[in-house]
Amino acid sequence: MLDNALDAAEATTPNPEISLALAPADGLVRVTVTDNGPGMPAEVVEQLLDFGNNVSDKASYRSPTRGLQGNAFKTLIGIPYALGVAEPLVIEAHGTRHEVGASLDPGGNVVIRHDTSPSTRTVGTAVTVPLPAGLIRAEDAGR
Ligand SMILES: Nc1ncnc2c1ncn2[C@@H]1O[C@H](COP(=O)(O)OP(=O)(O)O)[C@@H](O)[C@H]1O
Ligand SMILES: [Mg+2]
Repeated sequence: MLDNALDAAEATTPNPEISLALAPADGLVRVTVTDNGPGMPAEVVEQLLDFGNNVSDKASYRSPTRGLQGNAFKTLIGIPYALGVAEPLVIEAHGTRHEVGASLDPGGNVVIRHDTSPSTRTVGTAVTVPLPAGLIRAEDAGR
């Protein structure tokens, strides 16, 4: 998330602003990374939810340290479910809040969830991943 935020902010502004916030509540720690880049377009969110395709704006300069897999964001989408958290991942950009998630139905098929609503965020992108609180030590969450 930080790597993507840096890439996005560097692309559009000479003054990148990245923030990382950990919010412990409800037995979860919500990890939010915010940037002041161009904002993730709604079409890109849709593409990220299509697990039959790779999505990357960095295909031309993939290297061992940048964008190597080109699927980091798709991996993020499944993390809450894989760790037993029912709450979706949230992307806010361009005035839209996207709640997205991937889970498995009893037959083992991937089920995609995508709900949208208005957001006050018009600059940059904020991505929030809910994690089980036990994954992050209390003393670290307070930093
Ligand atoms: N913070 C962000 N702001 C704008 N676009 C983003 C952001 N994070 C991810 N994206 C978009 O999602 C795509 C997929 O991200 P990712 O899976 O990490 O692959 P990569 O970074 O290798 O391109 C990126 O190429 C970019 O188009
Ligand atoms: Mg990336």
